Amino acid sequence: MKKDILTLRDLEASDFATLLDRAMELKSRHKKGVPERSLARKAIGLIFEKPSTRTRISFEAATIQLGGTPIFISSGDTQMARNEPIEDTARVLSRYLDGVAIRTYSQDMVERFAAFADIPVINALTDKYHPCQVLSDLMTVMEHKGRLEGLKIAWIGDGNNMAHSWINAAAILGFQLVLACPEGYSPDLEILKAAVQKNSAILLTHDPKEAVKDADVVNTDVWASMGQEDEQVRRRVVFAPFQVNTKLLSAAAKDAILMHCLPAHRGEEVTSDVLEGSRSVVWDQAENKLHMHKAILDVLIGQGRTLPESP
Ligand code: CP
Ligand code: NVA
Repeated sequence: MKKDILTLRDLEASDFATLLDRAMELKSRHKKGVPERSLARKAIGLIFEKPSTRTRISFEAATIQLGGTPIFISSGDTQMARNEPIEDTARVLSRYLDGVAIRTYSQDMVERFAAFADIPVINALTDKYHPCQVLSDLMTVMEHKGRLEGLKIAWIGDGNNMAHSWINAAAILGFQLVLACPEGYSPDLEILKAAVQKNSAILLTHDPKEAVKDADVVNTDVWASMGQEDEQVRRRVVFAPFQVNTKLLSAAAKDAILMHCLPAHRGEEVTSDVLEGSRSVVWDQAENKLHMHKAILDVLIGQGRTLPESP
């Protein structure tokens, strides 16, 4: 596995398998109350330039549960806010920390940080990608469907950071991914083209019914992501036909599951009855972020070791 997870393109199929297996194992051990120590004496920095409930708190809890110490770094309180170069910050923090997760706007910032850091760097969301979310979502799909192979996964809504990470995952893992996005809100064509070359079962349509038809998994996300708040009103109009509601979901496979990375806007991209309904697995998704983040930290930083409890 590479030093960093900046995008799912950084992973081989075998790396996905390693992380999924480790996350499942750590989840089972957590439920049994088995203590973990693979991050003992290690400090993990969490640099967040955007709000977060799930990602921040699950990374903090994950670090603590592996015996390490999380250090939350609000970038506005550091010299980064006074234009200290990313490259300098990366080299300095590498002298203090054992790993860092970063949530920011630009993918370029995370990549520059990683290029100058000696420690593993994990993308905790940028405008372009949300790799850790899709890793934990794949775990949730595995739990509910028992496989990824042969599944039809639908993405309904914006061609955003989540869509890009799903596309990258499909390129490597080979499942069918049909994205339905309004015209003008398609995913990045360079990302899409590169993925389709590896997996011709990745399709883009502007018809949500076509994407959902017989799908095993129906996935959606907010219509306006963090940083796009000023486009919210216009997007509400454009995206209205892409709402995941009971009628749209009725075209999916009988045992289809509904996924949403959260936070959700009920009455916009998903109706309340669907989000709260029996097909929804959103709370499992939220929980699995903890277990997958533990696996990522354990494999990248703790060398996947299960250390005995300290005497
Ligand atoms: N799904 C997700 O990343 O949620 P947060 O923004 O709360 O971290
Ligand atoms: N696409 C959303 C995901 C939030 C977890 C955003 O970037 O705001």
